[in-house]
Amino acid sequence: MADAAQVTQDKPLLELEKINLTYESKTGNVNALEDINLRIHENEFVCVIGPSGCGKSSLLKLIAGFEKPSSGRILLEGEEIKGVDWHRGVVFQKDNLFEWLNVRSNIDYGLRMRGLGKAEIREKADEMLERMGLADFAESRVYELSGGMRQRVSIGRTLINDPEIILMDEPFSALDALTREEMQDFLRSLWDGSRKTIFFITHDIDEALVLGTRVVVMSKRPGRLISDMNVDYTREIVANNNSRVDLSQDYFKARRKLFELVAGLRGA
Ligand SMILES: Nc1ncnc2c1ncn2[C@@H]1O[C@H](COP(=O)(O)OP(=O)(O)OP(=O)(O)O)[C@@H](O)[C@H]1O
Ligand SMILES: [Mg+2]
Repeated sequence: MADAAQVTQDKPLLELEKINLTYESKTGNVNALEDINLRIHENEFVCVIGPSGCGKSSLLKLIAGFEKPSSGRILLEGEEIKGVDWHRGVVFQKDNLFEWLNVRSNIDYGLRMRGLGKAEIREKADEMLERMGLADFAESRVYELSGGMRQRVSIGRTLINDPEIILMDEPFSALDALTREEMQDFLRSLWDGSRKTIFFITHDIDEALVLGTRVVVMSKRPGRLISDMNVDYTREIVANNNSRVDLSQDYFKARRKLFELVAGLRGA
């Protein structure tokens, strides 16, 4: 465990500078995020945890470009994010698949929208179907699939655009425990094999610890960043072929600390 802030690397992929977000509505203003400063580097797997309603999804929506900050700046490779585009792929808890399309058409949707040639689309979709373990289901309707398979379609649909960063909002929380663990292993291998950068929201401390290279904790609303720690468990799992890492003293200590932070029982 190390304080992530101590790791100095220049040129972050993503940079959030003094972000504040207030939702304005007729019934009053909601101060959702306060003074968020965060730098994410290539190939990091950043997991964000925090109490319900603290602003996790709001933070993701800002990075995706669905919402605009009330103040502050968000930069991707030094360029300010102005709106939604395929440089940042999003995967939600609810997969938002097109029910009337088959698996292939869901997966290659982004490429078709971007007007790529037929042959190139076919080639990229075949490769992605293979990577997602869905080659045998290319022609299946998505409503025929299990929850885990649907999330793999969702991830494939995002990944096919080759985004600089993948943003995931509690993507596995609706899955049963076993499928969830399978999907965690799947995502870890994908991250390890592709060297992609992942920003992953979860309310599950164990999920954050076994997936992330870094765990960021938010306070209750208005969400501020109250802790930022580097962790090695996910690399350990990769290096030791899916070994159990969650039984060590060190893991228990990290888990306890995160629990207390999320529960508001201790400061950073
Ligand atoms: N469009 C909106 N307009 C007004 N208030 C909003 C809007 N979106 C979110 N909020 C409020 O902002 C706060 C943060 O919401 P957000 O969904 O980001 O939290 P969260 O941490 O993702 O919660 P959860 O753990 O339940 O998913 C909440 O109080 C929520 O009610
Ligand atoms: Mg949320």
